[in-house]
Amino acid sequence: MRSFRVSVPASTANVGPGFDSMGLAVNLYLTLHVEESEHWEFIQHSPPAPPSDYKDHFIYKVAKQIADRHHKKLPACKVTETSEIPLARGLGSSASAILAGIEIANQACDLNLSNEEKLQYGTEIEGHPDNIAPALFGGLVISVIIEEEIERIEFKDLQMDIVVSIPGVELKTEAARKVLPESYSKKHAASASAVSNLVVASLVSGDYALAGKMMERDLFHEPYRAKLIPNYDKIRLRAKEFGAYGSIISGAGPTMMSFVPSGNGATIANKMQTILPDYKVQALNIDTEGLKITYS
Ligand code: HSE
Repeated sequence: MRSFRVSVPASTANVGPGFDSMGLAVNLYLTLHVEESEHWEFIQHSPPAPPSDYKDHFIYKVAKQIADRHHKKLPACKVTETSEIPLARGLGSSASAILAGIEIANQACDLNLSNEEKLQYGTEIEGHPDNIAPALFGGLVISVIIEEEIERIEFKDLQMDIVVSIPGVELKTEAARKVLPESYSKKHAASASAVSNLVVASLVSGDYALAGKMMERDLFHEPYRAKLIPNYDKIRLRAKEFGAYGSIISGAGPTMMSFVPSGNGATIANKMQTILPDYKVQALNIDTEGLKITYS
């Protein structure tokens, strides 16, 4: 096995009303250096510390699952990991880890997986494709699972900067899914999908002001989750005052993501940091490349 480096971007899911369907890759990365070794070892350069038994490591479990599916023996590897993606904050850390695990199995067992297979496996493990697809392909990806097949489309030329406001608290996706209704009335669903259609159309046509306005009118999840998100109203309001197009809950939260005019990310991030002193506020860009592998 050739040693390799895999980097997988963070991602935001939903982008307002694209619930479980729309996602965007951003330039924070999970990076692993992987080499064959006599025994399994995970070295983590960013917290949390790895579990004492490598078999409990999430990335190992994914790699093993994929190797087993192909009836291959997973060779022992030394994995050195660095991550810029905060855990349980709505920035797709689990999707990035799943794709990293799939890639370890792919490389170590010579599986020759296509991107479609990686998307399929990743989505089966995560349950929905909205983080996996952008983390794999980069850019904005809209996808749907129909009879176990995933249809998708990618957009790579969005001209916006991003400001993320990351609170110090975690929010588990499971808890944030529990507050959502089981069903929506026909009238509600029609309005919610109309809003979603407008977000997509305005993003693709470059009308970012309309996209931001419509992102803030989601009817699928944000009205129910707002109470779980610290400073939800304040962040939407103040980001708008500072010049943002609009702000959304990143994935299931609790991070909020503001979309801002290109070139204004750093200025607006500084302003947001002054009103959110306990948060980590960062100016980010859209990642357009997705998962990348380099051999050493
Ligand atoms: N679409 C998912 C949700 C993203 O909002 O629950 C988090 O996994």
